[in-house]
Amino acid sequence: MKREHMGNAAEEALMQKAAIERMKNFLAGRHPSYYITTLGCQMNAHDSEKLAGILEEMGFVLSEQEEAADLVVYNTCCVRENAELKVYGRLGYLKSYKKKNPNMKIALCGCMMQEPHVIEKLKKSYRWVDLIFGTHNLYRFAELLESVYETPGQLIDIWDAPGEIVEDLPSIRKTSFKASVNIMFGCNNFCTYCIVPYVRGRERSREPEEIIKEIQCLAASGVKEIQLLGQNVNSYGKTLQNPISFAQLLYKVSEVEGIERIRFMTSHPKDLSPELIDAMKNCPKVCPHFHLPLQSGSDRLLKEMNRHYDKAKYLDIVRRLREAVPEMAITTDIIVGFPGETREDFLETVDVVRKAGFDNAFTFIYSKREGTPAARMENQVDPEEAKTNFEELLVVLKEVMDQRNERLVGKTLQVLVEDVNNHDASMLTGRSEGNYLVHFKGGSELIGQTVPVKIDEQLTYYLVGTL
Ligand code: 5AD
Ligand code: SF4
Repeated sequence: MKREHMGNAAEEALMQKAAIERMKNFLAGRHPSYYITTLGCQMNAHDSEKLAGILEEMGFVLSEQEEAADLVVYNTCCVRENAELKVYGRLGYLKSYKKKNPNMKIALCGCMMQEPHVIEKLKKSYRWVDLIFGTHNLYRFAELLESVYETPGQLIDIWDAPGEIVEDLPSIRKTSFKASVNIMFGCNNFCTYCIVPYVRGRERSREPEEIIKEIQCLAASGVKEIQLLGQNVNSYGKTLQNPISFAQLLYKVSEVEGIERIRFMTSHPKDLSPELIDAMKNCPKVCPHFHLPLQSGSDRLLKEMNRHYDKAKYLDIVRRLREAVPEMAITTDIIVGFPGETREDFLETVDVVRKAGFDNAFTFIYSKREGTPAARMENQVDPEEAKTNFEELLVVLKEVMDQRNERLVGKTLQVLVEDVNNHDASMLTGRSEGNYLVHFKGGSELIGQTVPVKIDEQLTYYLVGTL
């Protein structure tokens, strides 16, 4: 049965552990298989690690194939429409597999489930989905899954606001030497195009002690690289009972023995403090990489987007970052085709791309999201025009990235080896401190080690080198 009552965080964690135990007993030595598909950002990817952790504790094992799994989970994203269409498409396809294997259970969770119109549609037209839950009650997965196995039919449990931050639940990682750690949840910025604040709720920070405890445990289990996650890490800690800044947190994380590299995501340009720039300079473990979403280079559009900075301020931050740490790689997010975007606005974006000299960028065509202020703006851009500009932006970006990469040819970079190369088994793939993708010849025994690699060639999206 669905439980309405919300205990305190410690009680909630105990309840989930008890549900995991009951499921273990229920499975009685059987090992059903599961398959999780994750759409969207690193926050979602980390949530999926938590879901997998809970399932494996219960006794589920990872399936090689979605169609053959006993439990199929979609951890969804709603930032852009494409990601949503994909989920509906896959559900249609899975329906036929469920007919062949009636024991197959299908669960949906993540950001898309926090949109009321999605739930309506699922209730009406996707009755074969067994479990639907949202972002705020993800930690209750064990209990919800137990209900699904107990009582057939569709179970929907969506909360419209977050409860307490529940700590200490299991989680598993794809790699043993790299891990993500949430430092905060939610977003208060309400950029006018973005749906995240509506589906992830208001900003909440984890206590620094909990974060450090988790990182110490990770370090003890062999993790070398930590990625701190939050929608806007610059406002980390402001609302805690004993407020602490993100820069102060970085100093604390730096002290954890065994951790060699610290990264973080994402940082909003509007409240990036000089203290943070100093921390990056002073903490050698903090990687010289900064992800600084630009969105647009047009002052007029930045206002319409509610971003609270202008082109000059953005470029000034870029200058200060590279002044403090000359090797700093700067990456960004850019949206093309925001309502009202003219050719002049677009050219302002291109101008920032050239002046900032980005090391990489995620580029998006604006996607209208129901419920956001930008969706109600009347001057939506002609999709053809947006596409033309988008393609032009990619050409400029390639040029800028090539120029930036050239400086690395002939240099030796420290590369944390992640895997054997997908295309050539004699090659390895890893990341430099600046987050560059580096391919080089080597044996799989180097996976998980940090090794020096001399860069021979740059190919825009990756570097090729020699050990
Ligand atoms: N359309 C296109 N891109 C978007 N993003 C957020 N909302 C939208 C939208 N409605 C992009 C922003 C953000 C990144 C995670 O996704 O660039 O930084
Ligand atoms: Fe969305 Fe803006 Fe919050 Fe980022 S900062 S999640 S773009 S509202």
